[in-house]
This record gives sequence, C-alpha cells and structure tokens, in this order.
Amino acid sequence: MTMTVSSRAKPLAFPWQDRRGRLSWLKLGAFVGLFVPAVFITGSWAAGDLMPRPLNAVIHLTGLWGMRFLLLSLCLTPLRTGLALPELVLLRRMLGLGAFAYIAAHFLLFVGDQAFDPLAIAREITGRFYLTIGFLALIGLCLLAATSTDGMVRRLGATRWRQLHRITYGLGLLALVHFFMQSKADPAEATIAAGLYLWALARRRWSAPLAIPALVAIAGLGAALAEAGFFFALRGIDPLRVLAANLDIEFGLRPALWAVLIAAFVEIAGLIRRTAARKARGAPRPVAAHRAGSAP
Ligand code: HEM
Repeated sequence: MTMTVSSRAKPLAFPWQDRRGRLSWLKLGAFVGLFVPAVFITGSWAAGDLMPRPLNAVIHLTGLWGMRFLLLSLCLTPLRTGLALPELVLLRRMLGLGAFAYIAAHFLLFVGDQAFDPLAIAREITGRFYLTIGFLALIGLCLLAATSTDGMVRRLGATRWRQLHRITYGLGLLALVHFFMQSKADPAEATIAAGLYLWALARRRWSAPLAIPALVAIAGLGAALAEAGFFFALRGIDPLRVLAANLDIEFGLRPALWAVLIAAFVEIAGLIRRTAARKARGAPRPVAAHRAGSAP
C-alpha cells in the first residue's frame, strides 16, 4: 500500500483523480473494477444463488477477492517495471485499500457467523492456527490502511513510512499461508498465488533482461514446491510425486505452469515494449538494471 507523493501533489477530492487533480481513466477503471466482485457477491447472495450456506460462501468469496487484490497490489511493482507501464504506480493505494476492504468484510462476516459472541470469536482465532495467522495479517493491514493517507506520510516522514509499508510483503506471506491452510482438497489458486508472490519478491531485486529466465523459473518452482509442501503436510503425499505431476499435462495445465505462463507473459511483453521504446528513442541499452520499488 504505497503511494506517490510529490511537491506538486494536492489532496485528492475523488479516488479517480491523478495527483494533479485531473481525471485518470486508469484510476477510474480500477476504482470501478474493485466494486465488481462486491456487486456480484451481493447480487448472488440476494438472489439465493449461494445456498445451502450463503454466509459461509460469502466469507469464502470475500476472502478470495481480498487475497486476489492483495496479491495484485504486491505484483504492481513487477507489472509496472516489467511491462514498462510507470502509470500503474497510481493504483497502489487504491488496490491496497480495496484489498483491505474485502478482507475487513471477510472478517466481519466471520464475526457475524460466530453470532457476534466475543468469547467464541476469541476461541476460534486462538484455537485454529490458520485463523490466528489470518488475524495477524488483518492487524497488519489495518495498520497500513490507517497510515495510507498523505497526512500520515508527512507525519511519519517518507523514509519511516516506506519502511513501515514494506511489511506488506510479510503480510502477503501470512495471507498466503492462511489461504493454503484452509484450501483443503484443491490448492490450485493458492499455488499460483504462491508462485506469483515469489516472482514479485524476486523482481524487486532483479530486473535486468538477463534475469528473466531465473524470474520465470522462480515463479514456477516456487509454486510447484509450495504445492508439494501443501500435499505433504496435509496428506503425507510424497513431494516428488506431486512435483512430477507438473510434467504431465494430460489433464490440463498444472497451477505451477500457470504461474510460469503469467510471469513469462509479463516479462516477455515488457522486454518487447522496452526494446521498442528504446529503439524509438534511439537510446543505447542500459548498462545496469535499475532497482524497482521506488515508492512512495
Ligand atoms: C489478510 C487477511 C486474510 C486474507 C487474505 C484471507 C483470505 C482468505 C481466503 C483466500 C480464503 C479461502 C477462500 C476460498 O478458497 O474459497 C479464506 C477463508 C477463510 N478465512 Fe480468511 N483471510 C484473511 C483473514 C481472515 C481472518 C482474520 C479470519 C477470521 C478470524 C478469516 C476467516 C476465514 C474463514 C472462516 C475462512 C473459511 C474457512 C473454511 O470454510 O474452512 N480470514 N480467507
């Protein structure tokens, strides 16, 4: 949940404005996009499509969308630098706050599911490890949301604020573990998320074109190892068998391969865009890769 603060920045009246107060179509699209799952979830709930346990289904759906937006906000740096789309930085705060809103709703629905009984809630959170982890992640996200305003950036100072907001990656890890632990039979989406999370982390350090094969491999291997670890921990299945299953595409693409394809698509599309832009400018190739993640 980082943001850009410049000397020309002024307080924004609406979330779809850029830092000079002009309409940003990118921000407007993202703002509308953040509401789409909420509208569908509410509509399905109201239409009775989530039977037999609608509240449980909504807890799952809000958790899922909270996780997806959180992951997207973590992947914003690789997407911005990888695809050479610097304007994506404008979406950071909005995406982070959107993820927080879904996760806060997820928690409040859980509280409702416990009939708002504080003792039952405390017992569940302390008694089930995946809920303890989710709760820790939620506390961290509350801290980040509370300090996401321009006023808080000024009050904390840019350096301290940036250091604080680096915990987003740790919170993302907690959220991933929570996701995996409650996945039960099918950890496919959690597996893809784990691969992309590791890719995003690695890409903060390496962004040179030569690092692309390693970055794509990290996405695939990270996902494959996370999946093998999950099945070993949950069912005692031999990790080598789960890893070997990634080579068999008879029943469709395995989650680790999806992680590879997504990372490879971003990296290759970005390489093509950057090369084309350099040629258009007639500029020489950069000697060293710049480091990403320069927010706020
Ligand atoms: C960063 C914080 C959190 C994230 C990203 C998150 C995300 C998720 C996700 C992705 C799922 C699985 C959805 C699915 O597979 O359909 C889930 C399930 C669930 N989460 Fe969370 N969650 C978070 C925090 C919490 C907290 C604080 C609680 C309550 C204390 C909680 C309670 C639950 C419950 C009860 C389930 C369903 C488990 C089941 O049916 O067995 N989550 N969460």
